[in-house]
Amino acid sequence: MISKKVVVLREIPAVAIELLAKKYQVDVNQSGRVLTREQLYHRVKGASAIISLLTDRIDGAVVKAAGPHLAIVANYAVGFDNVELKALREKNIVVTNTPGGVTEAVAEHTLALTLAVARRVVEADKYVRSGRYKQWEPLLFLGQSLVGKTVGIIGAGRIGSAFGRMMHRALKAKLLYFDTQRNAELERSIGATKVSLNAIMERSDIISIHVCLTPQTKHLIGRAQLAAMKPTAILVNTARGPVIDESCLIDCLKNKSIFGTALDVYENEPHLIPGTRALNNIVLTPHIGSATDDARIEMAVTAARNVIAVLSGHVPLNPV
Ligand code: GLV
Ligand code: GLV
Repeated sequence: MISKKVVVLREIPAVAIELLAKKYQVDVNQSGRVLTREQLYHRVKGASAIISLLTDRIDGAVVKAAGPHLAIVANYAVGFDNVELKALREKNIVVTNTPGGVTEAVAEHTLALTLAVARRVVEADKYVRSGRYKQWEPLLFLGQSLVGKTVGIIGAGRIGSAFGRMMHRALKAKLLYFDTQRNAELERSIGATKVSLNAIMERSDIISIHVCLTPQTKHLIGRAQLAAMKPTAILVNTARGPVIDESCLIDCLKNKSIFGTALDVYENEPHLIPGTRALNNIVLTPHIGSATDDARIEMAVTAARNVIAVLSGHVPLNPV
């Protein structure tokens, strides 16, 4: 019997490949690059399962190229805006994601970025590195203190809640959140309050975005929302770039109408709005929210387990 083919669109931690290779023929793209559309169509031909990444657009054309055996697309990410769910559902193809391992890792990176902006860590590092530190200065690199401040979470799901808990427990933050659904657990455990988006923008000292990208959340944070922020406030985005109207945000930073921002994700990733690099009040990281050894191993194993479940005729662990 010819074993089923599993196509993995980039190298992921080896433990997942080893799990899959016990049962299936595994084809991993080891080129170190995202496949072009043509390469992708060619690569997935005959696949029963695809492990995709957020850099791969998975749509009807990919399903067609894969052919009739395709049963599951396991996206190696929490977000799945790169997968056209409708096209896959029409063909009864299961789509899964990797929520578990990512939660704390992304919350930690959000915390790191919040501290980096508040205390101007990146700017100060550049200052020392470039040899400009000559003497202690009473007014050098004054930042924002964080203890007891108000944190506004936009999207109080797993990651938003984990970040909220970290801020509350470590820094005694008061928590506001905006979501379509009530998070009773977050209200009970740390006294979070559900408010309108406008109230978040006006009242928070730190605002952090944790919603999925959907047509409803695209440019959720636009000119009016940014204009409502306090001049001392900090905005952090570790979710998806297009949730913020990035060009309006860059204008705010140029005008110093808010204290600072950190972005791990970009509206037109990996490209920046011209002028971004010259600004000192923005910290930039290359979409590394979940980039810890532990999280990436758990993501890989989760993707592999979902593939094994579906190809063995069981229900997936993390259907979306
Ligand atoms: C990363 O952005 C993810 O969605 O896991
Ligand atoms: C973007 O490319 C910039 O110059 O900031």
